Amino acid sequence: MIRKTLSASLLALAIAAPFAQAFEAGDIIVRAGAITVDPQEDSSDISTAVTGPLSGTKVGLDSDTQLGLNFAYMLTNNIGIELLAATPFTHDITAKGLPGGMSGDFGEVSHLPPTLSVVYYPLASQSAFQPYVGLGVNYTWFFDDSLSSKAESDGFNGLELDDSWGLAAQVGMDYMLTDNVMLNAQVRYIDIDTEATSNHAALGKVKVDVDVDPMVYMVGLGYKF
Ligand code: NI
Repeated sequence: MIRKTLSASLLALAIAAPFAQAFEAGDIIVRAGAITVDPQEDSSDISTAVTGPLSGTKVGLDSDTQLGLNFAYMLTNNIGIELLAATPFTHDITAKGLPGGMSGDFGEVSHLPPTLSVVYYPLASQSAFQPYVGLGVNYTWFFDDSLSSKAESDGFNGLELDDSWGLAAQVGMDYMLTDNVMLNAQVRYIDIDTEATSNHAALGKVKVDVDVDPMVYMVGLGYKF
């Protein structure tokens, strides 16, 4: 019983920790870490001008890891605004189910997905452990869309993906290691939808709607100014 009480008190002490304040209004938080964009892609059938939608066709995307950055400003002790930035992500595009050996490596695309969120920290600012939730708006800018040499030799020409506006939701946690330095982990869902277009020598204009809808994971360190 004594031991239980003791460990409970130690735990309480560890959680309460000797921090004057985790976050308060006016704080600026900068975080950097590894960020992974893992598309949970789902696409329409690939459609061509000659054939219409080709049933059983799909588009796949692989995941990519880059340097992630967060810049946050606390409006109150519990509510802040946060910008997610990163170095550009590049994803390989795979075509599935196309006839005539045209499936496989189709090309690649790079993008930047800046996201502006409102974040809410429910715990009292005396706690070193600071979970939070956030809701925001994402703009994804696709660039450097390029076909693979295989797709080009299969008769495709040009590739373009439309930019996307969508909502984003996240959960995260900061753990204050000192008054200013924190460990951070976060998971985010971003609604990214795009239309990809290309041209084929025999089939004409080629189109596919792709819900990229990635899960985004970041772990890193932060500093409170
Ligand atoms: Ni979507």
